[in-house]
Amino acid sequence: MDEEELLRTVPIFSELTDVDITSLARLTNRRRYPKDTVVFFENEEGDFFFTIVDGRIKVTILGDDGREIILSVLGPGDFFGEMALLDNEPRSATAIAVEDSELLSLHRTDFQSVLTDNRSITAALIKILTARLRRANHQISTLALLDVYGRVARVIVDMARDEGKRLKDGRIAFRRATHQEIANRIGTTRETVTRMLKDLERQGLIHVEGREIVVQPDFEKVFD
Ligand code: CMP
Repeated sequence: MDEEELLRTVPIFSELTDVDITSLARLTNRRRYPKDTVVFFENEEGDFFFTIVDGRIKVTILGDDGREIILSVLGPGDFFGEMALLDNEPRSATAIAVEDSELLSLHRTDFQSVLTDNRSITAALIKILTARLRRANHQISTLALLDVYGRVARVIVDMARDEGKRLKDGRIAFRRATHQEIANRIGTTRETVTRMLKDLERQGLIHVEGREIVVQPDFEKVFD
């Protein structure tokens, strides 16, 4: 796909006219980031806005004890790096490719003029940032109100909702994240996650099938 076609698949740019897409494509740079490459670090100065063409980008912060806390894992069509450009503060988190990824980047000045010239993009941006705030509120309630078992169960529900594909038999399958990744999403240890997942599997609530976790169609009712 060329850059114009790629930009058309990005939700935040979906309202742009063909002419605007063509001029935006001229301003973006396309680059591959192999698995485990850091796109940028928390607290750095930031001058670029990124959209994900392919792959997955993990947004993390480091706790005082050096533990990694995963705020989000973003995929194709998602964007990141907008906050430092909107408030002129340093990067609020580190962004790391967790798979071989391809990104389109847009320089700060071009990002700002695209926002000024296109009210539809500003509206789409606000809508997506609002969705992120809702998600962050949900995460706060998970961390504050649930015990570790509940948190693991909720991660399963969230991943099935966000990333799940429905199988022919109605069950939902999604990527089997590493136990360390799940632990870093909910502030616990890998060993605890391993124990809890085994327990959920023993109860027949989840099934690990190859590189996927599979849950029943009514899994949300069981966990909520
Ligand atoms: P910026 O602060 O420039 O760099 C880190 C980026 O991570 C940030 O912009 C956002 O794009 C993204 N980010 C920060 N917090 C979250 C979050 N809670 N959910 C999703 N993305 C986030």
